[in-house]
Amino acid sequence: MISHKNDAALETLLAGLEKWSATAGWIPARIFTRFLPLKNDERISPILHSGDATLPLTTVVTEEGIRYALDFAAGYSHGLFLDQRMNRAKVRALRPKRMLNTFAYTCSFSVAAAMAGAETVSVDLSKKSLDRGKQNFALNGIAEKGHRFIAGDTLDLLPNLDSHGERFDLIILDPPTFSRGSNGRRWQVEEHFVDLLGAALELAMPKCSILLSTNCTKLNPAALEQMSRMCTKGRRRTVDYPRFATSVDFPTGTGSSTLWMMVR
Ligand SMILES: C[S@@+](CC[C@H](N)C(=O)[O-])C[C@H]1O[C@@H](n2cnc3c(N)ncnc32)[C@H](O)[C@@H]1O
Repeated sequence: MISHKNDAALETLLAGLEKWSATAGWIPARIFTRFLPLKNDERISPILHSGDATLPLTTVVTEEGIRYALDFAAGYSHGLFLDQRMNRAKVRALRPKRMLNTFAYTCSFSVAAAMAGAETVSVDLSKKSLDRGKQNFALNGIAEKGHRFIAGDTLDLLPNLDSHGERFDLIILDPPTFSRGSNGRRWQVEEHFVDLLGAALELAMPKCSILLSTNCTKLNPAALEQMSRMCTKGRRRTVDYPRFATSVDFPTGTGSSTLWMMVR
C-alpha cells in the first residue's frame, strides 16, 4: 500500500519500491495506492495499481507473528496503520496488565497487548470497526474473556471508567485530527488533545505508559511533549519521555507523530 499526497510523490515512491524489490528479490503480488487528501470528505478507497484484479479484496497479513485482517474494499482505511508497527511492538514489549485502547479502530494495539497477556478495553465510535477488531482477536486464537469492546465516544467514556474506579498501566491515545462525536460534538485534535490527556491521566495506575499519537501535521513530537508537560504539571506525577528508533519505511517526519510518556 503506497499512500501519497500528490502524483509526484506517488511516482517517486513507486520508483523506489521497484528499485528496492529488485535488490531485495521480493516482488509484491499486488500494489495498492491511496491518495491522502487534506479533507476527510475527499477520502477515497485504495486503488489497485498492479497485480491480479480478480483476487479477493480481503486478506490476512502477519506482523511479528500476529495476524491482522485487511479489507481493501472497506473504504479509505484497509484495517492496519503501517506507521504504528514500532508502537505495536513497543506495546507488546511493555507486557501491560490492563490496557485502555481509545480510538481503537480495528484494535491492533489491543491484539498486540493481549498477545503479551494483557486484559484490554477497546473504545471506538464505530461498532463496525470494533467488530473487525473482534475478528482480529479471533484470527489470533484469543478468547474474548478479559477483553471489552465499547462502541461509544471516548470523551464520554473516560470519566465513566474513572467513576467505576477502572485503572490501567497502558493507555493508547491515537485520536483522529477531526471528527464528530456523540451528539454531533466536534473533536479537533489541536484544541482537545489536552482535555483528552487530562482525563486519561485520571485512569493511570501509579506506573503507567501512555502513547500519544496523531496524524495532525501541526502537532510534532515536540508539541506533544510540551502539551504533556503542561497537563502533568501540578498533578504530582513524574514523567519520562523515552525516544525509540523509527522504522526504515517511516523515517522521522513521515507517518504519525508519536510520543511515549512513562508516568510514575
Ligand atoms: C486514527 S484512527 C485510530 C487508529 C488506531 N489507533 C490504530 O492504530 O489502528 C481513529 C479512530 O477513531 C474513531 N473515533 C473518532 N472519533 C471518536 C470518538 N469521539 N470516540 C471514539 N472513537 C472515535 C474512528 O472511528 C476511528 O476508528
